[in-house]
Amino acid sequence: MIKAVIFDFDGVLVDTMPIHFITWKKLASYLGFELDPSTIDKMRGASRDKSLAIVLEQGGVDASPRQKQFYAHMKNTWYHYEIKEMTRRHLMPGALELLEQLKEKNIPVAMASSSKNAVHIIEHLSLQHYFQCMLDANDIQLTKPDPAVYLASAKNLGLPPESCLAIEDSPLGIKAAINAGCQCIGIGPEDNLAAATDVYESLEKLEIEKYLVN
Ligand code: G6P
Ligand code: MG
Repeated sequence: MIKAVIFDFDGVLVDTMPIHFITWKKLASYLGFELDPSTIDKMRGASRDKSLAIVLEQGGVDASPRQKQFYAHMKNTWYHYEIKEMTRRHLMPGALELLEQLKEKNIPVAMASSSKNAVHIIEHLSLQHYFQCMLDANDIQLTKPDPAVYLASAKNLGLPPESCLAIEDSPLGIKAAINAGCQCIGIGPEDNLAAATDVYESLEKLEIEKYLVN
C-alpha cells in the first residue's frame, strides 16, 4: 500500500520546461546557433551539466571546463530573472489540487529533483508547507537516473521506497524512481513513459485514491 507521494519538480509540479528551454535557447543564440525545440524532451530530468552538454553537442560547440562553467552560470542567471516573474499560474494543471487533497488525507509528501533551483522555486511560490521533505541537486550529488534522491527522500519520510509513489515526467526520472524501488506514475505522452506503472496525460486525470487504498 502507498503511504507517501514523492513528486518530481520540473514538468510535474511547475511548468518550468518551457522556461528552461527559452533560457537554453538564449545561450545557443549567444553561441551562434538555433536550438531545436525537440531538445526540451532530451533535457527532462537531466542535470544542468548534462543539459548543457546536450545544448553544446547540438551546436557542435567545443568548450573547456571553465567555459562550460561560465555558460551554465549565464543560463542560470537568465533562469533566475524568469523565476522572479513566476507565480502559481505556472503550476502544472491539477498540481495544487493534488497537494491539497494529499494534505487533507494526511499523506506525507516529498519533492525529489535534479534541479538546483527546485527548493528555491517552491519557497518563492510559498508552497513549502505541503512538503515533509524537499531534496534537490544541492543536497544530492548524484542526479537522475541515479536512484539516490528517491532513496534519500524515502529514508527522510521514514518509509521503505516500495511504500512511496513517485510522480515523474521523464524517462530518466522514472528510471531513478524504479531503481530506488518506488512505484512510479508518468505524467505526459505515453510513448516516452512506458516504464511507469501507469501514465496520465496530466495530474488532473490522476485519481490518487486508487493508489492509496490497494
Ligand atoms: C530538471 C529539468 C532539467 C534541468 C535540471 C537542472 O531535471 O528537467 O531540464 O536541466 O532540472 O535544473 P537547474 O534548475 O538546476 O538548472
Ligand atoms: Mg521533471
